[in-house]
Amino acid sequence: MNPFKYGCVVAGENYCRRPELQRQLGELVKSGQNVVVQGPRRMGKTSLVVETVNSLRGIALLYVDLFSVKSVGDFCRKVVAATAKCGKRSFLERTAELVKSLRPVFTVDRDTGAPTISVDLKAARNVESVEEVMDMIASHSAAKRFCVVFDEFQDVLDIPEADAVLASLRSKIQFLPDTPFIFLGSVRNRMRDIFDSPRSPFFKSAISFGVERIEESAMTDFLIGRFRAGNRSIDRETVGKILATADYISGDIQELCETTWLVTGDGHRISAGDVAKGLEAVFARESRAFISTFGKLTAVQASVLKGLADPDHCKVFSGEFLETYGIRNVGSVSKALKRLIRDEIIYEFNGEYLFENPFFREWVRRR
Ligand SMILES: Nc1ncnc2c1ncn2[C@@H]1O[C@H](COP(=O)(O)OP(=O)(O)OP(=O)(O)O)[C@@H](O)[C@H]1O
Ligand SMILES: [Mg+2]
Repeated sequence: MNPFKYGCVVAGENYCRRPELQRQLGELVKSGQNVVVQGPRRMGKTSLVVETVNSLRGIALLYVDLFSVKSVGDFCRKVVAATAKCGKRSFLERTAELVKSLRPVFTVDRDTGAPTISVDLKAARNVESVEEVMDMIASHSAAKRFCVVFDEFQDVLDIPEADAVLASLRSKIQFLPDTPFIFLGSVRNRMRDIFDSPRSPFFKSAISFGVERIEESAMTDFLIGRFRAGNRSIDRETVGKILATADYISGDIQELCETTWLVTGDGHRISAGDVAKGLEAVFARESRAFISTFGKLTAVQASVLKGLADPDHCKVFSGEFLETYGIRNVGSVSKALKRLIRDEIIYEFNGEYLFENPFFREWVRRR
């Protein structure tokens, strides 16, 4: 069986431990700090947070995935449903009691047989419903210590009453000084709108915690072990190629490992050539999306992107860059960069412009 997992939260044997980050985050959680976890896509933010909170004794995780939340009712439903994982039947009954005006109903998960709880979308209609749900969390927190995780928090901005919801959340959270809240988000600019804009109720309300590249030697050991579990062997140098190609981004590393595993057979010793074949397999899966993204660019944007994809490219605003890529002036470069950042194709990090998706960079490089 393929020993690599991506596109989901990983734990146990699929999770490469990040002890120092876990320690730092754990200390913040234990002291009741509210934290906003930021970092590029697929870096391992959610997995790190879940792993860290689960490892803390005496603190229960209330994990709410707000991905694609569209209304107040939806928000309440997601929070109430999340409590089903936090306790036994009596805990759920208490939850139901605490949100009774939202007309809670119990159901049983068809696949797992586990009890779940939901609320009536029509009953949970306005900001008072959000307050009721937050009061439910406050009530539970008086009896047991919780760490509340709001993942994909930026999607709250899509609720029509987003401003009122954010204001109400913020004021309720303020009265829970011993309950740590962790806000996670993958859409950088929208998270900034919530936490860095002086007009937002969440302005400076949480400590910022960055999740960047995974530590190289720990990841190398981890991957050698996973290849071994999948009946393949690989040396450190070849793992280094995988890490560099995937820009040290955890999810992309596991994806490239998965395709490399697929193109090789049992007992095989993996070479750089196999990794190149693995990368071709990634392209085969993603080429339609890549072609569509590239096709929507203007000529200048495409040239700038090709320039950035070159590993030895000179400074983007230099005369040499303009000349090499046939761009008329610095103003055009700057406009193209802004647009590419807005469309989340690239991002700026320490003055450098990096691709959000390293496989797209490799694909552009080959064009
Ligand atoms: N510590 C880790 N060890 C091994 N693989 C990891 C680790 N953390 C993350 N991954 C890989 O990255 C993928 C994405 O992880 P996760 O969902 O935690 O990242 P994320 O930063 O929250 O992503 P998103 O930006 O999509 O929300 C996982 O499916 C897994 O393949
Ligand atoms: Mg995530």
